[in-house]
Amino acid sequence: MEATITLLPGDGIGPEIMAEAERLLETVARIGRHHFQLKRRPIGGAAIDAVGQPLPSNTLADCRHADAILLGAVGGPQWDDPAASIRPEQGLLQLRQTLGLYANLRPVRVLPALHGLSPIRPERLAGVDLVVVRELTGGLYFGRKLQLKDLAEDVCRYSRAEIERVVRRAALLARSRRGRLTLVDKANVLATSRLWRSVTREVIEREFPDLELEVLLVDAAAMHLITRPADFDVIVTENLFGDILTDEAAMLAGSMGLLPSASLGDHGPALYEPIHGSAPDLAGRNIANPHGMLLSVAMMFQHSLGLVEEARQVEQAIDACIAAGQTTTDLGGSLSTRAAGAAVRERLLQGAGHKASARPLSTDQRVASLAAHS
Ligand code: NAD
Ligand code: IPM
Ligand code: MN
Repeated sequence: MEATITLLPGDGIGPEIMAEAERLLETVARIGRHHFQLKRRPIGGAAIDAVGQPLPSNTLADCRHADAILLGAVGGPQWDDPAASIRPEQGLLQLRQTLGLYANLRPVRVLPALHGLSPIRPERLAGVDLVVVRELTGGLYFGRKLQLKDLAEDVCRYSRAEIERVVRRAALLARSRRGRLTLVDKANVLATSRLWRSVTREVIEREFPDLELEVLLVDAAAMHLITRPADFDVIVTENLFGDILTDEAAMLAGSMGLLPSASLGDHGPALYEPIHGSAPDLAGRNIANPHGMLLSVAMMFQHSLGLVEEARQVEQAIDACIAAGQTTTDLGGSLSTRAAGAAVRERLLQGAGHKASARPLSTDQRVASLAAHS
């Protein structure tokens, strides 16, 4: 198949993990005789430094015209001045909003090989397999803002239509999984949450009576996610709660570096990115975990490109690497970012019957051999 993919490496570890995504795309293209046309474009702090804006118009145009978009991460301390009016994160928020990417799917799987790594007790982790559907283009992130010297305001606003469309997405997903949907809100305090609660109940009663709906207040949900994580199937929630709960959920899996995401709208290209940020503490050191980025590529194969088998193979290759300890240090291994990416590609090549080499190679030789093939 042929596809145009816009790559937005961004800042910090973004370019390092994006390089592994590119190499993975080259390998998958070679195995399956696909043709991916890749366009690298600046976003975030890198774009501010280059042209003074976090989402340059050329970058946005090449996102609009792509079949799918991959993003590394944006942001970093050099752009963190609280007085600055232009910030890297604005580029990502504008992109999500302009493309109408209102449903952000953040799957959390916990592999048995990683049970010992999570701060949560292993017996609580058995069977954890959940997806958080985070509303991505509304709420506090996009409401009216006011910033004066001694007073600031962020308005939280949601319409019925905004809630209905994301709840439907989450409900359809729950129907294709274990049939359980959990709404997380703060309806004891927030008017927007009371609207979320009544609209969600209506949509589920009317259109999805086959689903089991549970409703939790967000403070309690933060606790339940740790005490009974395996009970959850699909969680749907507003923008900010989804942001916070998914960093918490990443700790079930054991590392921020593991979780991928897909941001979907009704039309046009979708955006795929790991849930973590630019990790300034790791940037430039070739030690960040590329798995969340590579799993985001797998989500892109599945949701945007119809390459369902390729998506499964990438996931299996990553699972096998994790089970074999071929990981970066955050997952207890000793590999560099590049070597962890190479290990995933090597398993894909083995699965496809293309042995990377007849005799065992060192990791560096394997990286070199894969680079030479691509
Ligand atoms: P972060 O997610 O960058 O880092 C939090 C912790 O997770 C750090 O200890 C980091 O080392 C670790 N971590 C993150 N990614 C990892 C990886 N791939 N492998 C191993 N460990 C990893 O969050 P932060 O430090 O709060 O934010 C840093 C910057 O990133 C900020 O400017 C923030 O705005 C931005 N950010 C961007 C995105 C995005 O682009 N989607 C998401 C979150 C934060
Ligand atoms: C995320 C990030 C972003 C968010 C920031 C960088 C704007 O934390 O993708 O989870 O809050 O949505
Ligand atoms: Mn976040």
